Amino acid sequence: MSKSIATAVAHPNIAFIKYWGNRDDALRIPMNASLSMNLAALSTTTSVEFRCDLQQDDLLIDGQSAAPAALQRVSAFLDIVREQMPEKQHAIIISRNNFPMGAGIASSASAFAALAAAASHAAGLDLDEAALSRLARRGSGSACRSIPAGFVEWLPGREDESSYAVSFAPAGHWNLVDLIAVVNRTHKEVGSTAGHALAATSPLQSARVSDCPRRLALCRQAILEKDFVAFAAIVELDSDMMHAVMQTSTPPLLYWEAATLELMQKVRSWRSQGLPVCYTIDAGPNVHVLCQQQDATQVEELLEQITAAQAVYRSDTGSGVQLV
Ligand code: DP6
Repeated sequence: MSKSIATAVAHPNIAFIKYWGNRDDALRIPMNASLSMNLAALSTTTSVEFRCDLQQDDLLIDGQSAAPAALQRVSAFLDIVREQMPEKQHAIIISRNNFPMGAGIASSASAFAALAAAASHAAGLDLDEAALSRLARRGSGSACRSIPAGFVEWLPGREDESSYAVSFAPAGHWNLVDLIAVVNRTHKEVGSTAGHALAATSPLQSARVSDCPRRLALCRQAILEKDFVAFAAIVELDSDMMHAVMQTSTPPLLYWEAATLELMQKVRSWRSQGLPVCYTIDAGPNVHVLCQQQDATQVEELLEQITAAQAVYRSDTGSGVQLV
């Protein structure tokens, strides 16, 4: 007999080669491959219980009833799981983040990775890692990268079956640390889903996408060889190219704030003074500052002296999704 309740834990991930723009928005088939590492210190724990006595799904996030838009996105995702269930039941979903929701740290990747694992298990589906990654991708593209462990590549594919993520090095392979400098905690006006839909309006997007295999190969090689100098150069270039596309979309998206730019310049000046450090920035103003373990305390202290950084979260490389 299949169990109708399951709980899973997943970590968010930070992309070094970014996903921006879809070939297919509905299926979340990306225009380009991307590469990331999971963040061990941050996690989402989600339990899903399918029950025959419910009229609709019920979603609790960090002890609060979720907003209608969040419930709708989760219900639409659960419909994909329900298609494969003999009896279509609604569910109670209880989700907790170990980091503040309003901190401006993306939670959709860990949220949909944990939800995919818990919901599919509760539904009695026996999915392998690739199938689970494909399912998580339907909820949020970057969530497919939070399924495998450590350093992960999302093979973009051209249709549902071929678009999923794989691990290319375990979490312990390289002691990279992500120091997330939070400069603004308010919710962003234009989220990633709406942003992806604008990517094709930028004349720079085709150049970004066509050069992506080169950047990704360089980044993967830098990680495999633990070559921080090469890693820093390609990670900052990739982040800057994605933001160039955002800033030249119609309408334009400018996620940077004055504090973002201040941090970018500080990171570059520390590196020019010999400290191995670099930045990458997602669809928001916060700055992910990357370095190796041996330099992390010094970098963290430097970041804490910058008043524009309201908080700094520190994370090592993390495992993949796990059922608990
Ligand atoms: C800038 O995965 O959040 O963080 O698929 O619409 O949920 P949806 O988008 P999402 O996009 C992530 C964009 C990014 C870059 C990245 O993580 O690769």
